[in-house]
Amino acid sequence: MFTAAIAAPSIKLADTDHPLHPLLQQRWSPRAFAPRAVERAKLLSLLEAARWAPSGSNRQPWAFVVGMHGDDAYTRLAECLNPSNAEWALAAPVLILSVAQTVNSEGKPIRYALHDVGLAEMSLIVQAMALDLHVHPMAGFSQERARAAFEIPEGFEPVVMLAVGYLGDPAQLNERRRAQELESRNRKPLREFVFGETWGEVAALVE
Ligand SMILES: Cc1cc2nc3c(=O)[nH]c(=O)nc-3n(C[C@H](O)[C@H](O)[C@H](O)COP(=O)(O)O)c2cc1C
Repeated sequence: MFTAAIAAPSIKLADTDHPLHPLLQQRWSPRAFAPRAVERAKLLSLLEAARWAPSGSNRQPWAFVVGMHGDDAYTRLAECLNPSNAEWALAAPVLILSVAQTVNSEGKPIRYALHDVGLAEMSLIVQAMALDLHVHPMAGFSQERARAAFEIPEGFEPVVMLAVGYLGDPAQLNERRRAQELESRNRKPLREFVFGETWGEVAALVE
């Protein structure tokens, strides 16, 4: 197991059944972000991480709209968020919209576009963790509004929005969100989704 140095401890370590790289074990999706800008160099590293993600036939079917607190893109991204996300996500100094190219220049569907955007996002998220930042993905936003606000052409689909920033104090959240922020993280056990010879039958590996 790697033991990479992590800049700051996370408050929500995954309780794993098997050893994980600390960047993965410490990753989680916070709602409390600190009122601290993200350095330009760090933001560029996040996008560079996305850039080097694998993709089907190296098509790289992704694009990102990046807004930083105070700029026009941030304001327009913020207006796309559902109220239940806006209530906390606007504390994040950076908002990013991921966009997938789902149709190629010949009008054919790019079958793995969403998959590849997800890979790029996860690279971005892990790079963020390595730089002491956290990322919270959000599907709760208006795709139509995003398409209109950024003139996203046909053949490209808004996928998720990402709130990016330094960890904040859970005390800044309302009661319900604070409770969520502090509750432990959980996952299905491997035996529920790792199959062997027959679909639905636990793989001998994990028994
Ligand atoms: C595609 C996607 C959409 C999500 N949408 C939202 C959202 O709209 N609002 C929200 O608060 N969290 C959202 N999340 C965060 C998930 O709720 C979170 O990742 C999950 O509960 C696991 O928690 P963890 O990331 O802290 O491990 C989303 C995550 C993903 C991957």
